[in-house]
Amino acid sequence: MRLAVLSDTHGNAVAFEAVAQDLRRQSPDAFVFLGDLAMRGPQPAECIDLLRSLDPLVSIKGNHDHYFARYRDASEWVPKNAKEEMNRRQLQYNQRLLSSEEQHWVGHWPTEHVLHAGNIQAELYHASPASLAKITWPWAANDELDALRKDESTQLVLYGHIHHAFVRSANGRLIVNSGSIGLPFDGDNRASYALIDVTGRDIAVHIRRIAYDIDQVVRIAKDRNMPDVDLFEEAVRKAAFTYGLATKAV
Ligand SMILES: [Fe+2]
Repeated sequence: MRLAVLSDTHGNAVAFEAVAQDLRRQSPDAFVFLGDLAMRGPQPAECIDLLRSLDPLVSIKGNHDHYFARYRDASEWVPKNAKEEMNRRQLQYNQRLLSSEEQHWVGHWPTEHVLHAGNIQAELYHASPASLAKITWPWAANDELDALRKDESTQLVLYGHIHHAFVRSANGRLIVNSGSIGLPFDGDNRASYALIDVTGRDIAVHIRRIAYDIDQVVRIAKDRNMPDVDLFEEAVRKAAFTYGLATKAV
C-alpha cells in the first residue's frame, strides 16, 4: 500500500497544486492530511477544494484549524498579545473567504487517528497525542519522540506541525514528519510531503520536495491584501519561521 501524507498547507494553494500534480505521477492508494489547512497564506478556499478533490482517508485537526471551531467570528477573540492579534487578523481574512460550512468542516476534524496498512499500525496526530500545539523537534531525545504515540504496539507515527520534514527510528518505531506543503520552516523552500510504501511489516518512506512558483503565491497574497504579507513572503522565500515569539506555536 502506498500512502501519501500531506500537512500544513496554510492557505498556499499554489504549492498544494504543485504537490497534487506530483501525486498524479506517484499514484498513491490513499491520502491522509495532518492539519493546518488555512491561516498565514492567501488561498484557504482553494486549499479546501484541492483537499476535497483528493478525498483523504482522514483529515486531522491542527492548532490553526481549531480557531474555526473556537471563534464563529474573529471579532469574538480578545487577543492577549501581539501574536494573538496577528492570528486574529489572519482568522478575519480567512473567515471572509470561507463559507460557514467550510469553517465548520475544518474546525471539527478529529485530533487523532489509528490506521492499519499491511501488517503495521500507525498513529496520526497534528502535533502530539497531548496537544495540538506541542513542539517535538527532529532532534528531540528518543523518549520525547516516544511520547508521540499512545499504543506500545504502534510501529509508525505520523505528525506535522513543526514544518520540518524528517524520518527517525526511536525505540523500535518509525517517526515521520512529512513537513509542510505551504510553509516549510526547514530551510528548503520547496513544498514537502511524504510517500510511505507499506509491504507486510516493511515501511519505506520517501520525503518529496516539490518546487513551485513562489512569486505567484506572493502576488496573490498582495493582490488580496492579505494581512502580514511581508512575514508570509519572507517565510515562503527563505523557508524560515518569521512570525516572531519563536518556538511556542508554529
Ligand atoms: Fe502548521
